[in-house]
Amino acid sequence: MSKLVLLLLTLFSTLHPSSPRPEPFAMRISCGARLNVHTPPTNTLWYKDFGYTGGRPGNASLINNIVPPLKTLRYFTLSDGPENCYNIKRVPNGHYSVRIFFGLVADPNFESEPLFDVSIEGTQIYSLESGWSTTEDQSFAEALVFVPDGTVSSCVHSTGHGDPAILSIEILQVDDKAYYYGPGWGQGTILRTAKRLNCGSGLAKFDADYDGHHWGGDRFWQKVTSFGQGSDKIRSNQNSIRKAYSSPNFYPKEIYQTAIIGTDGQPDLSYSMDVEPNRNYSIWLHFAEIDAGITNVGQRVFDILINGDIAFKDVDIIGMSGDTYTAIVLNKTVAINGRTLTITMNPTKGSAIINAIEVFELISAESKTLTEEVGALQKLKNALGLPLRFGWNGDPCVPQQHPWSGVDCQFDRISAKWFIDGLGLDNQGLRGFLPSDIAKLRHLQSINLSGNSIRGTIPSSLGAITRLEVLDLSFNFFNDTIPESLGMLTSLRRFNFLSGRVPAALGGRLLHRASFNFTGNAGLCGIPGLPTCGPHLSTGAKIGIAFGVFVAFILLLVCSMCWWKRRQNILRAQRIAARDAPYAKARTQFVRDVRLTRHHELVRSVSENGPSLLS
Ligand SMILES: *[C@@H]1O[C@H](CO)[C@@H](O)[C@H](O)[C@H]1NC(C)=O
Ligand SMILES: *[C@@H]1O[C@H](CO)[C@@H](O)[C@H](O)[C@H]1NC(C)=O
Ligand SMILES: *[C@@H]1O[C@H](CO)[C@@H](O)[C@H](O)[C@H]1NC(C)=O
Ligand SMILES: *[C@@H]1O[C@H](CO)[C@@H](O)[C@H](O)[C@H]1NC(C)=O
Ligand SMILES: *[C@@H]1O[C@H](CO)[C@@H](O)[C@H](O)[C@H]1NC(C)=O
Ligand SMILES: *[C@@H]1O[C@H](CO)[C@@H](O)[C@H](O)[C@H]1NC(C)=O
Repeated sequence: MSKLVLLLLTLFSTLHPSSPRPEPFAMRISCGARLNVHTPPTNTLWYKDFGYTGGRPGNASLINNIVPPLKTLRYFTLSDGPENCYNIKRVPNGHYSVRIFFGLVADPNFESEPLFDVSIEGTQIYSLESGWSTTEDQSFAEALVFVPDGTVSSCVHSTGHGDPAILSIEILQVDDKAYYYGPGWGQGTILRTAKRLNCGSGLAKFDADYDGHHWGGDRFWQKVTSFGQGSDKIRSNQNSIRKAYSSPNFYPKEIYQTAIIGTDGQPDLSYSMDVEPNRNYSIWLHFAEIDAGITNVGQRVFDILINGDIAFKDVDIIGMSGDTYTAIVLNKTVAINGRTLTITMNPTKGSAIINAIEVFELISAESKTLTEEVGALQKLKNALGLPLRFGWNGDPCVPQQHPWSGVDCQFDRISAKWFIDGLGLDNQGLRGFLPSDIAKLRHLQSINLSGNSIRGTIPSSLGAITRLEVLDLSFNFFNDTIPESLGMLTSLRRFNFLSGRVPAALGGRLLHRASFNFTGNAGLCGIPGLPTCGPHLSTGAKIGIAFGVFVAFILLLVCSMCWWKRRQNILRAQRIAARDAPYAKARTQFVRDVRLTRHHELVRSVSENGPSLLS
């Protein structure tokens, strides 16, 4: 039955391939805005972020033409902590283009250009370089990511060069297969936009300005009119372009209506850009034959080289696309060792042409930290009243360039997750208390909370962190007894509880690599070096004492029985001796009386057992 329905659905969808798709999900945030904002030319809606509690709202000084015309921003001073994030919830799972515009605070005290790092979903995608505010395509970071869990987290990370300031965040759904480049493409790889050029165009534009398809992700196309050799030229016309708006990338036709072409004197074209060395790049080259002089296959043929290696041989646009004014896109993924990427179009017939170029850096998506450990750290953050300067926003362990301070991380290859193996929050002026949720950080090997003002009891749940080797809670205001569970900590795996060394384990320094230090907590009691505990007893202690009393009573009983039995044996021996030796009669009357009283019994018991002894 369900198979039939599936079949019918499949049939239906194949019969109606062009049935209109729903509008893609789009969430645009104008940072620091008190009210929602609408911007020209398409009356785009930007949501205010006034409910956001981190950072400070401010006015933005507009920096160049491409920045969306938004007047406010949000900036994060160092006292807000090094990591600051927007966690956008209720995002339908899918494939998204996430873009973050940077800003300059319109205030004479902030004249310098901040330099900071940007991450999306825990993966660092961009480091701002000085001069970004004067370079069109460097005033934002953009990347294609998959959203599998309904939230998009994007963070800015301070690098000590000014306060990160951001103007806007856009989360724009794209086709599930957008920019599919072949093997390796998928959830584990993020495509960061490194360059997107509209060749031959004198105007930078967004897809939206071009009246582009909404599933294209509202891309920004930078203008370029020459590759700098001075001998290339521009072609452009307004003829309509076939196959532009096609799935999965839905390019606006306008990017094909202009091109840079080689000249008779210098027919080849070459474009170079700076790249990060030793990374992989996915390169997308757009062509449409828009030169009225070229109408047939074989009139324009060229090879495409990337850093000197042939990527595509004998490219003939009309031959490949099937017609003039018809779009064709070629993509190639390459590893680049040096700092320069050079794309060369080398003609064997006629001159070279190029309509648009896109370059993406492929970035391996970081694995995240175990969810329950992130939750436990957040509880700890609240319970200890961690100062704002710590940040502790986003993921504790990733991006690896910016882990939370005071947290040591380790990667588990099997689960492909990060976990926390150390907490070092000594001498940080922390108040508050230690929540029992700390035990959810079950991979901890070391905790140092020495030298703070933490109050209350030591949670007995600490005893559940079986790997714990170092626990330094010295110089705080912990009170009450030290939980017995801490004795279990080491005993569980490699300690014989009955050997009597457990108290030493708590008081003494080292035991099977475990080290405890409770010094300097005026309220603590019960171990050597600390005051003895008052009348306050835990249930466990009460049970322990009751058990002890019971054992003592049993011991007493057993001992008195033994004594009585032994005494009896002595008396019997004396009786026998007395009978056989008359000289022993000079005993006290008391002894004789006892002996006499016992006589009947003795005789009876002996006779019951047979006459051998008395005969
Ligand atoms: C931003 O500018 C407006 C006037 O345009 C002013 O009223 C407001 O106080 C400014 N806000 C900040 C945070 O400087
Ligand atoms: C990109 O190129 C690969 C082969 O190199 C091809 O399989 C893939 O379909 C191309 N992607 C698009 C969207 O055309
Ligand atoms: C580049 O791609 C190759 C092959 O897919 C891979 O082995 C290599 O690790 C990648 N390099 C980087 C820096 O991602
Ligand atoms: C914990 O931190 C304090 C203060 O920084 C330091 O003196 C102490 O040695 C640390 N404890 C351990 C067990 O490393
Ligand atoms: C320990 O301190 C907490 C708060 O500081 C207090 O509520 C509690 O009564 C104290 N317990 C003991 C046994 O002193
Ligand atoms: C605990 O730490 C303090 C200071 O850090 C030190 O003086 C003391 O000897 C330590 N106690 C134990 C049992 O190691």
